[in-house]
Amino acid sequence: LAPQCNVTFLPSEEGSGKGAALITAVARLYKSHPLVPELHTLSAELVTGLGRDTNTTATLKMLPTFVRSIPDGSEKGDFIALDLGGSNFRILRVKVSHEKKQTVQMESEIYDTPEDIIHGTGARLFDHVAECLGNFMEKHNIKDKKLPVGFTFSFPCQQTKLDEGFLITWTKRFKASGVEGMDVVQLLNKAIKKRGVSADIMAVVNDTVGTMMTCGFDDQRCEVGIIIGTGTNACYMEELRHIDLVEGDEGRMCVNTEWGAFGDDGRLEDIRTEFDREIDRGSLNPGSQLFEKMVSGMYMGELVRLILVKMAREGLLFEGRITPELLTKGKIETKHVSAIEKSKEGLIKAREILNKLGLEPSADDCIAVQHVCAIVSFRSASLVAATLAGILMRLKENKGASRLRTTVGIDGSLYKMHPQYARRLHKTVRRLVPDCDVRFLLSESGSGKDVFLNRTASALYIHSNTH
Ligand code: GLC
Repeated sequence: LAPQCNVTFLPSEEGSGKGAALITAVARLYKSHPLVPELHTLSAELVTGLGRDTNTTATLKMLPTFVRSIPDGSEKGDFIALDLGGSNFRILRVKVSHEKKQTVQMESEIYDTPEDIIHGTGARLFDHVAECLGNFMEKHNIKDKKLPVGFTFSFPCQQTKLDEGFLITWTKRFKASGVEGMDVVQLLNKAIKKRGVSADIMAVVNDTVGTMMTCGFDDQRCEVGIIIGTGTNACYMEELRHIDLVEGDEGRMCVNTEWGAFGDDGRLEDIRTEFDREIDRGSLNPGSQLFEKMVSGMYMGELVRLILVKMAREGLLFEGRITPELLTKGKIETKHVSAIEKSKEGLIKAREILNKLGLEPSADDCIAVQHVCAIVSFRSASLVAATLAGILMRLKENKGASRLRTTVGIDGSLYKMHPQYARRLHKTVRRLVPDCDVRFLLSESGSGKDVFLNRTASALYIHSNTH
């Protein structure tokens, strides 16, 4: 009938037994969107965010970070680093020395950030941070050392210099009152003084910037930093002449894209699903961070749960049985998705996790649930691949090169913990931009051998680089 068409016939999704029909439908929803439009849209939005007249209305905020160079590995010193906004609140002491060879000594503690503190008043939140800092200094006998402090604050901040950051808006789980629009360095310094702690905040950086710097410490070619954890975001080195909001034309500056907000103007509507809309409606920030909500660890488990509820309601899973636990928000977490997708024990894990939700899944149910997890996490990796490819195209264009050779520093719990995520992401990026040779560097394993570098520590290298 159509001899002019070369058609490949592919079997439909191979989900066995019940559930296969809906899985196929969900998979189609998720999988069949072409990534190329997203990639070009992101590239265009980078430019909109950089322009003086278009910046205020752009979805990508493209925030100048005042970081102008990557560490060269010769930095040294004794510092404290605070890391607030990721899956843990951490405080670290970092000593970098260069006797014979470079060594990095690090001591760190993790502190709780209970819900009532991150949703209470800003004053209470910063008092809590200052109190933890005081305890840390006491415990490590550095109370009177007056060490410089680097502050990794993983939220969008407007900066005009390195030691100042006006919070634009909270994202992810945080919602402390009275902080938006304020300089978080001042708020923290005030709380520190009030508590009688002797420390001064020298620099505030986004976690993506910290990641890029840490990886840059090991690989000078590193010019992109990505986080795929509780939230998702990226920064990269942009030509200063393209950043309208900062004076000067020479050299480059790191720009925090805040790509989690991609799609907030409706551009991702074609590929958002009913599950994405439900996640958004139930979130702390409806209508915002729509890309982040399709991608990052804070939402992935919940996406899977919503799909399973729908499948069970339609009688496609668990013989139509629904338990109160399955209906409870947050009962399936991203770490469960990671466990279910493990190649060997995945199906056993699926059964364990479903049992804990009061369900008695059949073997087919477990396979179907594993499929749902793979579909949701695959979509996430593909979307990040498309947006990263957009940044790589931009870097290549800036350099006017026919091939781009570059390193991307990455960190984040989802990227690190999920058994398949990294491989899928790397593969898709290479497919989307075959003219770029990309090295992916995990922030912590950056230096590998005897030192363990943490992204937080890099705030300090920035300090030593610019002062
Ligand atoms: C959210 C924040 C962003 C941060 C990212 C990863 O998207 O807005 O600043 O980099 O999470 O932690």
